[in-house]
Amino acid sequence: MIILGFESSCDETGVALVSTEKGLLAHALHTQIAMHQAYGGVVPELASRDHIRRVLPLTRQALGQAGMTLDDVDAIAYTAGPGLAGALLVGASVAQSLAWARGLPAIAIHHLEGHLLSPLLADPRPDFPFVALLVSGGHTQLMRVDGVGSYELLGETLDDAAGEAFDKTAKLMGLGYPGGPALSRLAEQGDAGRYDLPRPMLHSQDLDFSFSGLKTAVLTRIKTLEKAHGSLPDGERAHLAAATEAAIVDVLAAKSLKALKQTGLKRLVVAGGVGANRHLRERLQQALRRLDGRAYFPPLDLCTDNGAMIAYAAACRVNAGLADLEDTRHAFTVRP
Ligand code: KG4
Ligand code: ZN
Repeated sequence: MIILGFESSCDETGVALVSTEKGLLAHALHTQIAMHQAYGGVVPELASRDHIRRVLPLTRQALGQAGMTLDDVDAIAYTAGPGLAGALLVGASVAQSLAWARGLPAIAIHHLEGHLLSPLLADPRPDFPFVALLVSGGHTQLMRVDGVGSYELLGETLDDAAGEAFDKTAKLMGLGYPGGPALSRLAEQGDAGRYDLPRPMLHSQDLDFSFSGLKTAVLTRIKTLEKAHGSLPDGERAHLAAATEAAIVDVLAAKSLKALKQTGLKRLVVAGGVGANRHLRERLQQALRRLDGRAYFPPLDLCTDNGAMIAYAAACRVNAGLADLEDTRHAFTVRP
């Protein structure tokens, strides 16, 4: 079965073709980063309009890459949520219109399930069960994953997501959008030991996270530095970036290891945009090697939002018998 998948939940338009037997066949992506940069963050209205502009050319591109036409497609998948309402509606409308016009099933996919299963697109791919650390701009969760559709939430952030912590502290430091990659690049030139930033909930017994205090701590340091120097000196900005990255990575790594200990599992899968962070990857790879386990990551280009993960999650659901291929209501809802 060939599935055409659409992702449009935020600032990336993604279209992909996945075979339920052969896996990923093609994916085309357009990122709106350059468009939103001038505003320091995603402007929802602009995002929706750009998805409309891009979605059909990208669909042609993905079909062309795979050497296919719409006649080869057996089902349509799309991100049903969570995300920006107007942006989601573009992907959902295109997917459901195509499905209706061609008499195909439309499969609604939860955006986080797309991220969660994306490491299965990498080589080597993890076997079930595993612990998943889901770290995106909107979510920070630890899950126990026993199979497709079998997810147990072990812990999550009580306030900001890890990606949000990167983005918001980066903004305070006057770095561009998106903050995660910018802060991480600057951190390479800094010394993480120069500033002692809090690691919220590092030692709490549960598997929850909290990042909003970190933002306040960074703001306090910036204000003190600005008072002393008139503005934030470049060298201190780099040290602060390194210290912030270290604090976030420390907490994510510690809680992931705690989750592995609690579940007795030795496979850790990291997904979502923050999974592209080099320090986080290296730290977890080392820690898992010491435990005689293994850390798995999606291919780097599939860490942030993309259509491949949505089409692939739909293929996983079809293969597991969890997709309702007879459902023609095509409701704009997110499965619980
Ligand atoms: O998964 P994603 O593309 O979108 C959401 O579903 O939210 O994640 C985007 C988030 C942003 O907060 C971005 O700053 C962060 O991932 N991010 C990074 C890196 N690359 C992307 N954070 C830290 N280091 C990176 N290299
Ligand atoms: Zn995402």
